[in-house]
Amino acid sequence: MDTMRWENGEFYLLDQTKLPGQSEYICCRDYITVAEAIKRLSVRGAPAIGAAAAYGLVLGAMGLKGEEEQNFLAGVEEIARHLSATRPTAVNLNWALERMLDRVKSEDSMTPEEIIGIMIREADSIHREDLEGNRKMGLFGLDLIPQGARILTHCNAGALATAGYGTALGVIRAAHEAGKKVSVYADETRPLLQGARLTAWEMLQEGIPVTLITDNMAGYLMSRGMVDLVVVGSDRIAANGDVANKIGTYGVAVLAREHGIPFFVAAPFSTIDISLQSGSQIPIEERSPEEVTCLGGIRLAPEGVRVWNPAFDVTPARLVSAIITERGVLRSPYDRSIRELY
Ligand code: MRU
Repeated sequence: MDTMRWENGEFYLLDQTKLPGQSEYICCRDYITVAEAIKRLSVRGAPAIGAAAAYGLVLGAMGLKGEEEQNFLAGVEEIARHLSATRPTAVNLNWALERMLDRVKSEDSMTPEEIIGIMIREADSIHREDLEGNRKMGLFGLDLIPQGARILTHCNAGALATAGYGTALGVIRAAHEAGKKVSVYADETRPLLQGARLTAWEMLQEGIPVTLITDNMAGYLMSRGMVDLVVVGSDRIAANGDVANKIGTYGVAVLAREHGIPFFVAAPFSTIDISLQSGSQIPIEERSPEEVTCLGGIRLAPEGVRVWNPAFDVTPARLVSAIITERGVLRSPYDRSIRELY
């Protein structure tokens, strides 16, 4: 099932808020619909948000077709700012929008019509390259996955979070395809249950053995010797290798270190933000209290209770055993290995 697809000037997004119960696509004909879908997490996961925003910008540009060239370009930039403001943590969102704008600005004296054609091709490239990159990442990760490995993952860094195949789940998929007989523990990932709803669903679809646990079971699971390694995705990696990912990832990394279990991060190069020296500079999205006080639309916590709901946390580089990218596997010291790869 495609996470997203561009078809005859319309953009379709699989509504991930409805999974696994219903598989429904949202038809986007304007950029506002795409921006709302990103905010609502109908499309989520760092690389998927980036690709969706690129197509959103195309839809925005299509709405400006009749404008003079100067107004058209100013309008496209304004729409990029709007899309970029939807979610602050995943750097892939800005990366994709900047790539689209750079492409637009590199063309001289073209009509809006011609520029839109170029933009569609650029968004298609972002989408296609992400899928290709994930497959490469999976192959680079193969050496790190022993035969029969029992792998814990947090949140959903799978096909649904990307253009396809996935990052962390891509590494797991590649190991499965290579006949390594791996099995997966999926953290349910409160508050929005991306692990329970999406990772469990993806693994079942793929025929990869998966066991669902609540987030607070990971420590006991590790203490019983039932986990061989952890692999997660990332929303932004600072120049020193600090990793922002779904809230709860940091706790898993601390537990993994305590139990001597390797903790791997799989992410495309576009997730690395060398403009930030450390993870403390990564903006962390805070979301609505209802995500914590309610579950499936049912209120569980008392009215009036104060809530803190950061959507991501930062795992310090010292807890990360390796970062798997589509260009190779990075090891500590990350400031050096990241710089070398650049
Ligand atoms: O809030 P979400 O569901 O967008 O958070 C997603 C994650 O934290 C993923 O682990 C991350 O984006 C990597 S996806 C390949």
